Formats: sequence, structure tokens, C-alpha cells
Amino acid sequence: MENLTQLIDTFGRVHNNLRISVTDRCNIRCFYCMPSEDVQFVHRSKIMSFEEIVRFIRLVVPLGVDKIRLTGGEPLVRKNIPELVKMIADIPGIKDIGITTNGILLPQQAQQLYDAGLRRINISLDALNAAKFKQITRRDDYDKVLAGIQSAHDAGFDPVKINAVSIRNLTEEEIVPFGKLARETGAEIRFIEFMPLDADNQWEREKVLFAHEIQEILSQGIMPLVPQEQPDKSAPASNFIFEDGVGRIGFISSISAPFCMSCNRFRLTADGKLRNCLFSLEETDIRGLFHANAPDAEIIAAVHSSITAKKEGHEINTARFIQPDRPMYSIGG
Ligand code: 5AD
Ligand code: SF4
Repeated sequence: MENLTQLIDTFGRVHNNLRISVTDRCNIRCFYCMPSEDVQFVHRSKIMSFEEIVRFIRLVVPLGVDKIRLTGGEPLVRKNIPELVKMIADIPGIKDIGITTNGILLPQQAQQLYDAGLRRINISLDALNAAKFKQITRRDDYDKVLAGIQSAHDAGFDPVKINAVSIRNLTEEEIVPFGKLARETGAEIRFIEFMPLDADNQWEREKVLFAHEIQEILSQGIMPLVPQEQPDKSAPASNFIFEDGVGRIGFISSISAPFCMSCNRFRLTADGKLRNCLFSLEETDIRGLFHANAPDAEIIAAVHSSITAKKEGHEINTARFIQPDRPMYSIGG
């Protein structure tokens, strides 16, 4: 008999939120995620097919999973993502589908994605300045990202969330312009603390620009922020609004205030490995089990074991921390 109990780990955390990386490929090269050259991508033949992804989701829905987010690499470089969204939206029990994208391909795809049932969209943009954008991403696509954000608004996504990774001595000058953008467009800006998931092992604590510092810069440069009700207790962002009620800002304080104890997320990589944490050093080979014709009960048992083995939290703030072998692009954000 299959064990259809919820995915509760030894710390009582309930896992209902599955993040699925659909490809490790990307059309830009953000330095905090990818190496600049000679990226080792998984061979196409080893990537989970749409049918395998859907089979996996169908197996975990009875275990309580109702929230899916597609990630990459850059998810939209894989063909037919709107079709995958539709396939997922048709699975009974799925309440919420999101995507995290760099936005470059949104002008061609935003409407199709919306029509397929996608409702949540996070667009990654770390600078509101073409030169700084290039310095971070090693590519010239700043204008395409802006067009992508516009097309997301036009397609009906509301809110459009913008993820901005914050890095000391690099993005300080972007903070006030982002605050103004939030006020002018209604986009919600989420500042993310730089995490040790870069391919070049260049992360250092000194490069993390902390949420409280960003908040101070916004307060000085625009006006004070006030905290907002947290509708979803397991959401990583703490939400604020400028005190005149215009402009929403979130902080993802992964380093200065880790939110591991309320984590409800687990991840499937593009090559079909299940990870119970961004920073886990072990993974479960779901695609391997599929290809070995493992019965559903065995796959469900493997998912339960992965969740049971989840550690209390990342140990970035301790001497014990070991950076995972896989950089961000190969795990999925
Ligand atoms: N630290 C913090 N955020 C990161 N992202 C990618 N790599 C890192 C990192 N090392 C962000 C991306 C994207 C999301 C998937 O994660 O900018 O918004
Ligand atoms: Fe591509 Fe996203 Fe990694 Fe940037 S952070 S290189 S957009 S996958």
C-alpha cells in the first residue's frame, strides 16, 4: 500500500510547495549563479520530459502538494512551457502555479502563459541601469527584460514581482530607483540577499548587502517603510509598504534572518533529482527510479525519505557550512 501521509519532516514542517526546474540552460550568465564560460549543461536526453514531470506531480499531490513553481536555468528557454503549465493546471489538487524567469522571452510568451493558467510571476532584475545589468549578467539584454516586465503587466499578471539580488559594493545605487519603480508601477520589488550558490565560489559574507541596510537606504532616500501582514506564513519574503501606502517592498533575508524553520519547499532538478533544500548535499534520483520502472509506492517512499532527512536549516552562518556542488542554475532557484 502506498503511504499517502503528508510530507512532514522531523521538525514538523509540512511540504506542500514543489519547485521544478525545467532546464539548467539560460540565455544570460549572472555571476552569482553561473560561470562565465564553458557551462556544463545536462545532456538533453537526461532532462525530465513533460510527461515525467506530470507523473511526479500526480504522485505528490495526494501527499499534500498543491503549489508548483517552474524555475531554471531560465525556464522559458525550454520549448512549449505554456503547454506544460496547461498540463499542470489540469491536475486536480493543484491550486497555484508560478514561474521565476529572467523575463527576456516574456514578450513572446507572457499571454500564452497567462492563458494556460499561470498566475504568479517573478522576474529577476538586479539593476535598473544597462551598464550594471551587463556587469552582473554578462549580457546586453536589459531592454528585453524591461519589455518582458511590461508584457507581464499587459498579459494580466498582478502583481508582477521583481527579484533583485543585492550585492555589497555593486547594487547599492539600484535600491532607490527600485523603490521608485515599485511606487510608480505597482510591481512588488523583492530584495534577495546574495547566497553562496555561485559557480565560481566567490561568495563571501562581506559581499552580502543585508536587508536592514536596504531598508535604511529606502527610508532615507524615499520614506520609511512599514511592515505588512504576512498572509502566507511560509513565504520567505517579509513584506513592507512605504508609509504613504504606495509601493510594496519585500526582503528575502536568507543570510541575516534565515526562514528555514517555516520552509515548506522542496525541489526537483531538471535532471530529475529531488532535493529537500537548496543547500542539501544529498539528492534522490526520481528520474532514475522512473527509468527503472519503479512502482509508484517506491517513488512515494523515496519522497518521504528525502523529506524525513531534511536538516534543520542551511548552516551558512556557521563554520560547518559546505557549499553544494551544484550552483544555482543547476538546482533551480
Ligand atoms: N543568491 C541569491 N539569489 C540568487 N538567485 C540566483 N542565484 C542567487 C544567489 N547566489 C536568484 C535569481 C532569481 C532567483 C531564482 O534566485 O536572481 O531571481
Ligand atoms: Fe540565468 Fe537566472 Fe542564473 Fe541569471 S540567475 S544566469 S537569469 S538562471
